[in-house]
Amino acid sequence: MTARKSTALVFIFSLVAAAFLLHPGEAQGDAKSELADVVKKGKALWTKQWKKGAKTCATCHDRGPNKLTAKRLNAWPKYDRFLKKVATGQEKIAQMIKKMSMGPEVQLGADDLTALEAYIKTR
Ligand code: HEC
Repeated sequence: MTARKSTALVFIFSLVAAAFLLHPGEAQGDAKSELADVVKKGKALWTKQWKKGAKTCATCHDRGPNKLTAKRLNAWPKYDRFLKKVATGQEKIAQMIKKMSMGPEVQLGADDLTALEAYIKTR
């Protein structure tokens, strides 16, 4: 390869690299649509019946004094008299799935918890 050709190749490579680096807008677009997907999943879980005859989050939290909004969830961590400790919003949601919706024990950080948390933050 001649020196001239390799200089040209380096130049082209630099342009391609610069194009990637200078387009954070696209990465943000991806991040936005990923979040939208997670919120959508959370919305589906909001009305999911974990067991036949069990109540969903929506049954108890869509209206009335227990209406659950982002503002309410944002008040966590706080002391929870049922968990008997200062708990995070995720810990409270996990407790609700198990105790109130007859669902499984969900690990903190599990996709389902993140999805429910993300959805509730849009309410
Ligand atoms: C049978 C009714 C019922 C169901 C079903 C239920 N909850 Fe609850 N939830 C309650 C009640 C009552 C409280 C308040 C008492 C308490 O803290 O346990 C509460 C409290 C909460 C809180 C704390 C609210 C605050 O104001 O700080 C969160 C968060 C929550 N629930 C999320 C959920 C999610 C998510 C689901 C679905 C997986 C769910 N709950 C299902 C009745 C229910």
